[in-house]
Amino acid sequence: SLLVALVVLLTYFLFSSSFSSKNPSKEPPGPRGLPVLGNLLQIDLKRPHHTFQELSKKYGSVFTVYLGPKKVVVLTGYKTVKEALVQYDEEFGDRDSLPILREFNKGHGILWSNGDSWREMRRFTLTNLRDFGMGRKVCEDKIIEECQRLTEVFKNFNGKPFETMQPINYAVSNIICSMVYGSRFEYSDPEFTSMVDRTNRNIQLTGSASIQVYNMFPWLFKWLPTRKEINETFEMNRNQNFSLFHQLRETLNPEMCRGVVDAFMVRRQNLEKSGVKNNHFHDDNLFMTVTNLFVAGTETTSTTLRWGLLLMAKYPNIQDQVQEELRRVIGDRQVQVSDRKNMPFTDAVIHETQRLGNIVPAALPHKTSKDFSFHGYFIKKDTTVYPLLTSVLNDPAEWEKPHTFHPAHFLDKDGNFVKRDAFMPFSAGRRICLGESLARMELFIFFTTLLQHFTFTPAPGISRDELDLTPVGTFTLNPSPHKLCAVSRM
Ligand code: HEM
Repeated sequence: SLLVALVVLLTYFLFSSSFSSKNPSKEPPGPRGLPVLGNLLQIDLKRPHHTFQELSKKYGSVFTVYLGPKKVVVLTGYKTVKEALVQYDEEFGDRDSLPILREFNKGHGILWSNGDSWREMRRFTLTNLRDFGMGRKVCEDKIIEECQRLTEVFKNFNGKPFETMQPINYAVSNIICSMVYGSRFEYSDPEFTSMVDRTNRNIQLTGSASIQVYNMFPWLFKWLPTRKEINETFEMNRNQNFSLFHQLRETLNPEMCRGVVDAFMVRRQNLEKSGVKNNHFHDDNLFMTVTNLFVAGTETTSTTLRWGLLLMAKYPNIQDQVQEELRRVIGDRQVQVSDRKNMPFTDAVIHETQRLGNIVPAALPHKTSKDFSFHGYFIKKDTTVYPLLTSVLNDPAEWEKPHTFHPAHFLDKDGNFVKRDAFMPFSAGRRICLGESLARMELFIFFTTLLQHFTFTPAPGISRDELDLTPVGTFTLNPSPHKLCAVSRM
């Protein structure tokens, strides 16, 4: 830290001009920053999206900040973010990987890759997830089965308070397991639970304040213990995955693929047979694609469900209205996706949970693919861009009560469900979430089935007012640790 202080002081005295004033007529405007540190001292590292939203009040919907030496263009508000991601989807549609992830990603997989490899992996995964049921009945059946297992776990707490994170993570992760490996795992299987717990821990660590600083100055903070922990966990997951791939390869039947991994191996064999060399179907892409599906597909859906249950415990009259709709439309039978159209209130509650939960506040970092002009500003190729989804989901021009849990945002005066264009938790454009239809199916089935079986209340001794809705995390926003009681209704 002495070294950092010296570098900062020295460079500060050497240049006391701002970065942003270098080319004021062309670059998006932004706050004055210090050399090397940029605007670091002005940013709340626990809630960077919050600082960005404040800055947009002064600098408009397209502005520049410096995270250390790294220049970032931030886009805010529904109109600007939508326009950028949809009308300029090629220009704004590359991915900027984080330094902490770069060393093991090496540009493979879907989440952090670009170019032909990204295009091929994204297309292959989407087609195969659909083949293995995404958005269809087979997938619905898997979700229903998993949901029944989760209900059993909740029942075993006998109405006593418990932290909802782990059981929900296991259930949601198992849906991805079924589609990727072709089978689910028992919650008592330590191979499975350790992989889910490790992945979860890695996501938390990746969003930590120290890793954000590492991402700005990777050359200076290689020694960080958090970095070491991330690398070790990643390596363990890698070994575990390769042993699973090995088992699947031994029992592979090209006529009957069990999941995405089988389909990948068959595709590779076919390419090899037809003599196609240097294709994208290699081990690194297999491992990274599988890892991406776990990372992107577990934590997100699981966190949204936890927000949903917490909000129900906090607002019991809304919980009552959901349960009343369930009683009227479903009764005691199993809920199905096709019931959604008859349950506008519940659908509105789920949408409003996603809007207020705002779990991926700055999407994933984008990068520009060419030099171009946007809103009269010149933006260079390879500039990092944050499409601030939080500013879309809370845009005061779009939402009547942006900071309140208000399901009526999605209802007309007669109680019918209304779609809202500014509902963009899955982002938009060519990088739009690949698992949106799976996530929407999971959220509906899990949320409704749980509310059919249980009423959620705060732990004894905690009042509803004390249930804290302040999110924790930076990369993804989670409810702060809490316990709920699942009181059986059946
Ligand atoms: C990307 C949200 C569930 C797979 C993303 C992005 C967001 C997002 C905001 C970044 C888009 C961008 O960069 O502009 C969510 C939310 C979910 C969810 C809110 C649940 C409530 C899932 C599921 C899967 C999944 C279940 C797995 C099947 C992916 C992948 C990407 C992605 C692979 C990377 C796309 C790319 O870079 O081309 N998601 N997601 N997500 N999501 Fe999701």
